[in-house]
Amino acid sequence: MTSSSFGKSRPQHDVDIVVFGGGGDLARRKLVPSLYDLFRDGLVPDSTRVIGVSRSDISDDGYRDMMASSTREFTPEHEFDSEVWHRFAQQLSHQYLDVGDIGQIRSLGKLLRNHGTPRIFYMALPPQLFAATCRNLGEAGLITPETRVVLEKPIGRDLSGAKRINEVFAEYLDEHQVFRIDHYLGKETVQNLMALRFGNSLFEPLWRRGRIEQVQITVAESIGVGDRGGYYENAGALRDMVQNHLLQLLCMVAMEAPTSLNADAIRDEKLKVLRSLRRIDETNVRKTTVRGQYVAGAIDGAPVKGYTEEEGVRSGSDTETYCALQVDIDNWRWAGVPFYLRTGKRLPDRYSEITLQLRPVPLALFGQKPEDLVPNRLVIRLQPDEGIKLRLMVKGRGRQMKLEPVNLDLNLAHAVRGRPLSAYERLLLEVYRGDPTLFMRRDEVEAAWSWVDPILEGWAMQEMGCKRYVAGTWGPSKAVSLLDRNNHVWAEDAP
Ligand SMILES: NC(=O)c1ccc[n+]([C@@H]2O[C@H](COP(=O)([O-])OP(=O)(O)OC[C@H]3O[C@@H](n4cnc5c(N)ncnc54)[C@H](OP(=O)(O)O)[C@@H]3O)[C@@H](O)[C@H]2O)c1
Repeated sequence: MTSSSFGKSRPQHDVDIVVFGGGGDLARRKLVPSLYDLFRDGLVPDSTRVIGVSRSDISDDGYRDMMASSTREFTPEHEFDSEVWHRFAQQLSHQYLDVGDIGQIRSLGKLLRNHGTPRIFYMALPPQLFAATCRNLGEAGLITPETRVVLEKPIGRDLSGAKRINEVFAEYLDEHQVFRIDHYLGKETVQNLMALRFGNSLFEPLWRRGRIEQVQITVAESIGVGDRGGYYENAGALRDMVQNHLLQLLCMVAMEAPTSLNADAIRDEKLKVLRSLRRIDETNVRKTTVRGQYVAGAIDGAPVKGYTEEEGVRSGSDTETYCALQVDIDNWRWAGVPFYLRTGKRLPDRYSEITLQLRPVPLALFGQKPEDLVPNRLVIRLQPDEGIKLRLMVKGRGRQMKLEPVNLDLNLAHAVRGRPLSAYERLLLEVYRGDPTLFMRRDEVEAAWSWVDPILEGWAMQEMGCKRYVAGTWGPSKAVSLLDRNNHVWAEDAP
């Protein structure tokens, strides 16, 4: 077992990192820029080697040039240092290789340092290649006890697919060597949720049924599917966002205090939450879920296409680009408290937020009707700006005792000094350190799919098609009635 670090200290040993899919979108936008940032700040040893792998015929210098331009693009101007890049680039190379060809995989062995040197195999590949790549690495004898393998999402598109991948990995690796990414877990504010809940005595008495009326988790995107239409057609919002990011956030909000910050102690608690989720299937799927798909509209005043006009999308497609759910957690702490989850593309704004709304005061002491009194609300914002807001009622100016809502507003970028690590920097650092706390364990991934599968089946059995919404609006109107039947409203409509 490893103990959690959550720290920034520098790992000491040499490491070889192989990025399978080294020329892809993720490698260009996130992985190589994050590795450069860690290198620049001295958080990884200078001897770290990074080998990008793809089937493109590209020289080492060509690869370095390609990565220099994307790193420049995705690293803030003042943080890109040409001299540091030059040193980092000496450690960067490209290898032509088809992961499906075991002979070619075997040749990779010649590029790696001896067996005792830790190696990180990062699967930034199309997910259907995860299992075959792992098998070929194993059969080629490249998986050593010091090997760590990082898996991107999605892991399967249902429970049986996820199990098939996990089983192949289990054949060649111990669970502690497998790092399943959910990059939301690398976000500073998600970790701050732990700090907020378990580092302050203020919140614990409130964090339960009886005090909290409802919880909302929103991951809103204003972008459409862009050039990922082909991938998205196979996924949809439930698989792409809810099965992983939103359920992980729900777990962080709802879990009990772990016995320590040990990776398994935390993941055990999250697993209990996943296992307490009330089943949604064909019997209640219409009542508790909403599927939506955007049609042409406008974002920030600029016209945008509808989903079915996007590249790679089938005409007449019924893939959901929006999904909202009422989730009930059948355990002692949360029985009776609805958790509303929603995510969508082409919504008016881009942000991720968790809102806990407390119950109203029991008596209208100030002459106002109870419904005039705005309930307290704790808002934890994950992106784009990270912060925590607590809404309180105070007396307004003037002679009358009339209350009005105000916010205690904590902007974490201002409140805490130092450059925050990006989610990918933090997660890569944790892989270096061999600490799986911020990654999903096999049983968590499978428990999440076990809960999601009956929803997908329910939609199919009920022939529950998507409700259309105009791009630039907050999703189908059905999402309003999902809450309205409980006398609740979405956060942006609340007073
Ligand atoms: N992009 C994102 O923002 C994002 C976010 C979350 C998760 N992910 C996940 O990250 C992974 C990569 O996504 P991506 O967007 O970077 O995909 P991508 O742009 O399509 O890149 C895929 C990479 O894999 C390489 N590749 C494909 N088949 C190969 C083979 N047989 N052998 C060796 N290399 C091969 C491709 O290069 P060649 O074709 O030249 O071989 C390319 O470099 C996927 O699992 C995705 O679901 C991506």
